[in-house]
Amino acid sequence: MDNPLDGPGLEALHARRSVKWRLYGPDVLPLWVAEMDVVPAEPVQRAVVDAVRRGDTGYPWAPDYTEALASFAGDRWGWRPDPATMSLVPDVMLGVVEVLRLFTSPGDAVVVNSPVYPPFFQFVHSLGRRVVEAPLGADGRLDPVTVEDACASATREGARAAYLLCNPQNPTGAVHTPAELTAVLEIAAAFGVRVVADEIHAPLAHPGVRFTPVASLPAGARAVSLMSASKAFNLAGLKAAVAVPGPEAVDDLARVPEEVSHGASHLGVIAHRAAYLEGGPWLDALLEGLEANRLLLGDLLAEQLPLVRYREPQGTFLAWLDFSAYDLGPDPAATLLGRAKVALHPGPGFGHGGTGHARLNFGTSPAILREAVGRIAAAVGS
Ligand SMILES: Cc1ncc(COP(=O)(O)O)c(C=O)c1O
Repeated sequence: MDNPLDGPGLEALHARRSVKWRLYGPDVLPLWVAEMDVVPAEPVQRAVVDAVRRGDTGYPWAPDYTEALASFAGDRWGWRPDPATMSLVPDVMLGVVEVLRLFTSPGDAVVVNSPVYPPFFQFVHSLGRRVVEAPLGADGRLDPVTVEDACASATREGARAAYLLCNPQNPTGAVHTPAELTAVLEIAAAFGVRVVADEIHAPLAHPGVRFTPVASLPAGARAVSLMSASKAFNLAGLKAAVAVPGPEAVDDLARVPEEVSHGASHLGVIAHRAAYLEGGPWLDALLEGLEANRLLLGDLLAEQLPLVRYREPQGTFLAWLDFSAYDLGPDPAATLLGRAKVALHPGPGFGHGGTGHARLNFGTSPAILREAVGRIAAAVGS
């Protein structure tokens, strides 16, 4: 199978109507939002087009999604969660919100491991909860010490609290190991803090790296995971996701109101099902392409931007770049947008550890990646 990242050229990409390609003018190369420059797998295209053609544009049927996810999880991760216990949700972040609503009350705290996906802060705040940061360690990995401190602070005076884990971690691409996960899950349990795991990037663990679903671990039995085919198969515009409870969280998840499932798109469910059941070869080809891009990016940075500090991600199509040595200010993405005409995702919104950083999406063609790094290097004069 061809590398999906070699797909559309710049002209076809500029014709897209998505925010990635609309927000900035045609002179800007957009490598910010987590949307890849690929065309979906052929079985996904076929499933959606066939559905539209037969007028199958009504309301979603949840088992189509939950059963396909169980089958994919079995094949990829050797884990078979029970589809009957899962809940269809509109998308991952709205699923996170519903589970946080179960586990916490207004004013309660939600622990997050920063730097982390900025909507973790925004959605928690708009739900009326407060964020307590447990920064990753200097090695970019989960740090049991900060998690313990954060759980202690979050539950002071007997308040309920939740812990929103990002597995794999956006933006660093760390794929947490069973030992790392078990350590922080046990700490959370000791404080009575319930765990919600955002596992949207799960299928994007790079070759040789093993993804571990939180709810598959004994220490994750009371956790709820949110999963979706949207990142790995580039289906963000076809909204649907699933909440998966650990064996001891089944009754909790059953309390999510049934109407929450109404927000998922029927065409989304059809697309995600096709991706999970028939998109394996496309995903494997994508993962090879991402691996090649990851190596290319490492080489380009070493040659052209040697002062950028960067730890190779173990998963995702995201690279977390530390521009501090280039003196581009606290938000290098803002500076580079003007000077290099490259849009990266601003680091400061990722919380502690975000200053001086920017996130680059390498889910694009090698040609665009080369051009982007070349423009940045020219702009910083290195
Ligand atoms: C960690 C993480 N969670 C959630 C999302 C958004 O998912 P959804 O559109 O299903 O809410 C993203 C998108 O980039 C993400 O990186």
